[in-house]
Amino acid sequence: MNQQEYINAGKDRFLNELLDLLRIPSVSADSTKNADTAKTAEFVAESLRKAGADKVEVCPTPGHPIVYGEKMIDPNLPTVLVYGHYDVQPPEPLELWESPPFEPVIKKTELHPEGAIFARGACDDKGQMYMHVKAFETMMQTNTLACNVKFMIEGEEEVGSANLGTFCKENKEKLKADIVLVSDTSMIANDIPSIDVGLRGLSYMEVEVVGPNRDLHSGVYGGAVANPATILCKMIADMHDENNHITIPGFYDDVNIVTDSDRAEMAKAPFSVEDYKKDLGVNEVWGEKGYSSVERTSIRPTLEVNGIWGGYTGEGSKTVLPSKANAKISMRLVPGQNSVKISNLFKAYFEKAAPSYVKVKVTAHHGGEPYLTPTDSVPFMAASKAMEATFGKKPIPTRGGGSIPIIALFEEVLGLKSVLMGFGLDSDNLHSPNEKFGLFNFYKGIETIPYFYKYFAEANRK
Ligand code: BES
Ligand code: MN
Ligand code: MN
Repeated sequence: MNQQEYINAGKDRFLNELLDLLRIPSVSADSTKNADTAKTAEFVAESLRKAGADKVEVCPTPGHPIVYGEKMIDPNLPTVLVYGHYDVQPPEPLELWESPPFEPVIKKTELHPEGAIFARGACDDKGQMYMHVKAFETMMQTNTLACNVKFMIEGEEEVGSANLGTFCKENKEKLKADIVLVSDTSMIANDIPSIDVGLRGLSYMEVEVVGPNRDLHSGVYGGAVANPATILCKMIADMHDENNHITIPGFYDDVNIVTDSDRAEMAKAPFSVEDYKKDLGVNEVWGEKGYSSVERTSIRPTLEVNGIWGGYTGEGSKTVLPSKANAKISMRLVPGQNSVKISNLFKAYFEKAAPSYVKVKVTAHHGGEPYLTPTDSVPFMAASKAMEATFGKKPIPTRGGGSIPIIALFEEVLGLKSVLMGFGLDSDNLHSPNEKFGLFNFYKGIETIPYFYKYFAEANRK
C-alpha cells in the first residue's frame, strides 16, 4: 500500500480515534480536570506507541505532564521534532455551544462542506496534533519514514507552558533535532493554502483598582466617592488615543518597522473585509489608523481587555458602589519588542495614570516573545513544497496574530528554528464556543506531513 491508499483505508478509524481524544476534557487551566488531563497524556502516549514510536514516556512536571516519543531510523538522516499540545482552553460559556464541547459531533458548514468536527480542542490543538501521529503511523506502516522523528506534546500551552522551558533545558541531548515542526496555526482558506511565518509575543497583565475600604450603598455614598469601576473603565479607555494608537509611553519604541515593499507583498494575499465583517457580525472594522485589518492582526502590536469585573453582576439589581474593580489586559507584541520590558512599561504607566482617589495594583502573568520563520530556509521550502504537492498551489507566507511563546524559547534553549505548518482556519472558533476542525483539513494535514519529511530529508541528504 502506498501512503494515500493507507490513509484512505484508515480514514474512519483515524477520525474515531480523534473523537475519543476529544471526549477527554483536558482543560489545563481547570485543576478539577487534572485527572482528565493526565488521562489525555496517557492517551497520546499510547497512540504514539501504537503508531510505532520508541521510548514513549509521559514525563511528569510540577504542572501537567509532557509526552515524549521518538523513532530514530538512521543517525545520518535529519531529525524532525514535532511539537504540539494536548491541553485545551476552558469551554465556557457552555450555553453558547450548539452541542456539548466534549461530545464531538460532525456537521457540515458553509466553509466545511465535507463536514467539520465540533468540539473543544478540535482544531487547537488536539486535531492538528493528532494529524502528526497519524501521518507518522502512515509513514511507519508504508515503510516511507524519511527522517528521524521525535515528538514532544505538552499539556500546558494554553496556560503559558510554564514547565516546558525547564524540560527543554534539562533534556537538550534527548531533544537534539534539526527542525521543530508544529501544526497549531491556521491557513487562509481550504483552497488558499498558506503558512504562518510569524507569531506575536504576549504580555499578560492583571490590574486592580481599589476605592473605599468596603462596598457602599450607591445612593448614600455614590457621587461623593470615586467609583473604582468608573475609574478603571476610564483608565482602560485612555490606553488608546483617537487614532487607536496605544498611549503607553515607549510602547512602540522597539517595534521593527515592516518595509513598504513587504507590506505591498502582504497585501497581495486574498482578504475580503466585507466577508470578514459579515462573518463576525460587525458593521465596521476597527483598529490602528494607517494599517489594514490584516496588518493590525499581524505586524502591529495591540492591547486588549480580556476580562473586566467588579460590583454586582448577578441576577436582578443591587445598588452598590463597589470597593474594587479588576481587569485582565493582554498585549500582543511584534518582533523587536520584549515582553518583560513591555510589562514593566505597562505597570509604570498604569500606576502613574491612577488618580489620587484610588489605589491600583498591577501584576504580570505569563508572557512570551514573538517569532519569525525565515522564508529563505530549507525547512520553510520543504513545508511549502509539501503543501504545494497536496493542495496543488504554492502556499502564501503569512504572519499570524496568535502566540505560541515556547517557539521563541526553542530557538533560545535548543537552537532550533520552527516551521508552523498549520491546517486550521481562523474562523474555526478557537478558544470560543463551537470550536471546529474540518474533515478536509484533518485529512489534508495527514497527507501533507509525510511530504514535509520527504522534502526535508532530500534537502538534507548528507
Ligand atoms: N494555537 C494557538 C495560537 C495560534 C492560533 C497562533 C491561531 C496562530 C493562529 C495557541 O494555542 C494559543 O492559543 N496561544 C495563546 C497564548 C498562550 C500563552 C495562552 C494565544 O495566542 O492567546
Ligand atoms: Mn494551540
Ligand atoms: Mn490556544
